Amino acid sequence: MKYLPIIILTSLLSNFAIADESFNRGKEQSVTCSACHGADGNSNNKMYPRLAGQYKNYLIHSLKAYKSGSRQNAIMNGFAAGLSDQDIIDLSTYYSKQKGLNIIPKN
Ligand code: HEC
Repeated sequence: MKYLPIIILTSLLSNFAIADESFNRGKEQSVTCSACHGADGNSNNKMYPRLAGQYKNYLIHSLKAYKSGSRQNAIMNGFAAGLSDQDIIDLSTYYSKQKGLNIIPKN
């Protein structure tokens, strides 16, 4: 039992490591999305929704809906079709951790 604190600490730290890996993979994948949604998910064009700072669950839900076709949009159905469930989690982790800017797009 004297090792219990060590076991708890190690499992906590490995949880952080897993979350970090997901974030990093999401960041790599977001390069494809940045053309429209902005480098950090803060799009400056009102045609493209801001993803930065959005709830992670909402992002996962939206991407799964585009992938399944229950949410229809010609552009996003195409992009989501190529994402695995893990890609969707990773991208959603990345964008949800970005700071959403509260500015009104000019165009
Ligand atoms: C060519 C431009 C373009 C690219 C590239 C693109 N998107 Fe989109 N995205 C859009 C448009 C347009 C919408 C709004 C569609 C709609 O009305 O449902 C959208 C909507 C979304 C939404 C829903 C947001 C909301 O508020 O409901 C998410 C999530 C999303 N995109 C994620 C991504 C991810 C992740 C990628 C990269 C894999 C990506 N997009 C690549 C144009 C793009």
